[in-house]
Amino acid sequence: MKLTIIGSGYVGLTTGACLAEVGHHVMCVDNDARKIETLLAGKIPIYEPGLENMVRKNVVSKRLQFTTSTEEGVNFGEVIFIAVPTPPQPDGSVDLSFIEKVAREIAVCLDSYRVIVDKSTVPVKTGERVAHTIRRYAKAGVEFDVVSNPEFLREGSAVDDLMNPDRIVIGGNSDRALALMQKVYEPFVAPVLVTDINSAELIKHAANSFLALKISYINAVSEICEVSGADVEKVAEGIGMDKRIGRSFLNAGLGYGGSCFPKDIAAFIAIAEQLGTPFTLLKEVQNINTHQFTRFLDAVREALWVLKEKKIAVWGLSFKPNTDDVRSSVAVNIVEALVAEGADVTAYDPKAMEKFKDLPVSAKVKLAESPLEAARGAEALIIATEWADFASVDLAELRNIMRAPLIFDGRNLLDPTAAQAYGFQYRGIGRGTLPVAQG
Ligand code: UDX
Repeated sequence: MKLTIIGSGYVGLTTGACLAEVGHHVMCVDNDARKIETLLAGKIPIYEPGLENMVRKNVVSKRLQFTTSTEEGVNFGEVIFIAVPTPPQPDGSVDLSFIEKVAREIAVCLDSYRVIVDKSTVPVKTGERVAHTIRRYAKAGVEFDVVSNPEFLREGSAVDDLMNPDRIVIGGNSDRALALMQKVYEPFVAPVLVTDINSAELIKHAANSFLALKISYINAVSEICEVSGADVEKVAEGIGMDKRIGRSFLNAGLGYGGSCFPKDIAAFIAIAEQLGTPFTLLKEVQNINTHQFTRFLDAVREALWVLKEKKIAVWGLSFKPNTDDVRSSVAVNIVEALVAEGADVTAYDPKAMEKFKDLPVSAKVKLAESPLEAARGAEALIIATEWADFASVDLAELRNIMRAPLIFDGRNLLDPTAAQAYGFQYRGIGRGTLPVAQG
């Protein structure tokens, strides 16, 4: 099939590459000419395992094309995916101006039947609005259908998530459009759930909110573990063995971050509010997430007494491992908080240091070449992102090069017993009240 993706960001680019990989002919559109040039050269502007190779391969085989022209894209594809950003506004609601603009741009180029698919994460009822907008700006009599097809990929495993999805959700009310969508996804082995447009849109926000709720639940439990001397890792294992609950997304830590969860939960709260059905449970999820971060910083302050001029190493800057994305990264928030109190921070991240350099706080942070370099002479080490590399650092060497043996493991990456055996004072999340001396 000939498919068009408008917006070549995280979701658009990965979707385009994967749809080309399974045999479709895909044209990706983006109004950023520099980005398109980079992509045409077979390079990608993000770090995402497996994606660059896939893009290059499909560009060479001519199944994947790039253009800056929406008109060219609309003429090309029988199905047109909208994958443009839906950023948050100050009140938490979603800025839908990019979606609205693309809907108008598609409308004026429409000459014959097309399926227009909303792939971006949008509030419920957006599909209805997109359809009205296209109808208003399109030539009289031209036929089209609007479909919602939310994307559930995770950064860091985006290619695998797209190639092997748990489910494919297609929301629409036209048999013609639904038949074409089934054809798009025919090469994928995954259950397809067909719904109305509003339900499909709601599924995305409800799924992300549920996952954030699950994380916040275990984070709240982690605080009880700390004061009662229990181990949250064991508690998570024990409750996760219940098939109805499951172990995934029960990793206690510094709280959720990234470009989706904080934004989507705020958006879902705002939508519920607008619809007159306030979602107070999700407000509590937000509170727990903030509290988890504050508690962690308080523990660092408690141990070091004063942060000003303290040499602190931070391992990890990306919001999660296997990505270079630092948007809404809790690791960056930690660095910002330390710097604001005058700490002397040296950070290391395997992939995210380039993107970190674009953030204002980077001017006040030293970047190291390796985890051990970052920790040299440090009075405390904070593990802020659970990169696998960090777990294999030689603890004996780490102990030798640090000025004081204090580890604050915000991701429960290290084994507390091993760390203690090497002479560290170790504080994880929800791992009982381990003594940490004041410096
Ligand atoms: C998320 C959803 O998982 C994905 O389906 C959706 O399409 C986009 O949003 P992503 O933001 O890429 O994906 O990452 P994810 O792996 O879900 O992690 C989000 C945040 O939750 C990260 O900050 C991560 O550190 C945190 N997290 C995740 C935990 O704190 N504990 C966990 O057990 C899992």
